[in-house]
Amino acid sequence: MNILFLFLFSLFCSLSLAAAEFVYDPAVNLGQVDVEAGETTFRIHCARCHGMKGEGGEGTNLNRPRLRHARDDAQLFDVITTGIDGTGMPSTLLTNREIYQAMAYVRSLGRVEQLPPPGDAVRGETLYWNAAGCAACHIVAGKGVGVGPELSDVGARRGTPYLLRALSDPRAEQPRGTPPMEGPYAAYLTVRVHTEDGRVLEGMRVNEDAFSILLRDLNGTVHSFSKAGLTRLEKLFGHSLMPGYESELTTEQVNDIVSYLMTLEGEP
Ligand code: HEC
Ligand code: HEC
Repeated sequence: MNILFLFLFSLFCSLSLAAAEFVYDPAVNLGQVDVEAGETTFRIHCARCHGMKGEGGEGTNLNRPRLRHARDDAQLFDVITTGIDGTGMPSTLLTNREIYQAMAYVRSLGRVEQLPPPGDAVRGETLYWNAAGCAACHIVAGKGVGVGPELSDVGARRGTPYLLRALSDPRAEQPRGTPPMEGPYAAYLTVRVHTEDGRVLEGMRVNEDAFSILLRDLNGTVHSFSKAGLTRLEKLFGHSLMPGYESELTTEQVNDIVSYLMTLEGEP
């Protein structure tokens, strides 16, 4: 009886240790592990955020030779096993072998020839800062108003197809994901509050807990409300504060602006 218990207990311990212990082996040659198997793992575990070919979506565009959080293979291993704190990048429960395969696939993406930009980034920069009025709602390198998400590193976070969709139909391509409520991966949600004295205010949710809600209006001003003082609180899922540019900008102009956005890679 006791022996059986001890046996089971030690089995349990070794199993849970095995499951928890991911150790990077610097001797692994990522050139030799199976890139194709890695692609399968990637499609199952990573593609829903990073796109089927790593082109980016909710997760970063991985079709780049240099990754900010994964400058070398040890860091890449860390990012995949433990995720990135405070962001939408989760930890995984893959085996070491699956992780190496996924790593080999991610590195192969970095060697893929980059898609040429769809338009002219220089023209796009002028449009962005002048005619198109994007700076009224977005911050790039400290300039602009932060109604929507900061775009300083949007070219590193998102891919071209995502950005094209984000501009033509913002509702189709809202930054998805669960909280964190702050930071570049915040779940952007438009809320409308009705106060007891009859005011109605719409804006982007900045923060919320059981008792209060903070929203930022279209001027960039943050308002704080106690929930007890509201007659109604509407959460407008699928509603975007960002205007759709399909009718205001030509396809060529959208291509130019997206080309400019793709050059924004944030701090190196
Ligand atoms: C739930 C969504 C989600 C899933 C699933 C996911 N990721 Fe991520 N990943 C993210 C987000 C969001 C980031 C960006 C974090 C940041 O920089 O703020 C990220 C970042 C990364 C980075 C760092 C990129 C850089 O520029 O430094 C790598 C590498 C990465 N993910 C690989 C993977 C791999 C491989 C998988 C599958 C095993 C995976 N991710 C699964 C959301 C996800
Ligand atoms: C009236 C405010 C407003 C204006 C003007 C505006 N945006 Fe936005 N934008 C937002 C908001 C709010 C979001 C967050 C998501 C949502 O609500 O759709 C957003 C989201 C985005 C995203 C997605 C960001 C991400 O991380 O996924 C991109 C890219 C973007 N905007 C680019 C632009 C460009 C380029 C312009 C100018 C042509 C522009 N925006 C004009 C408010 C605005």
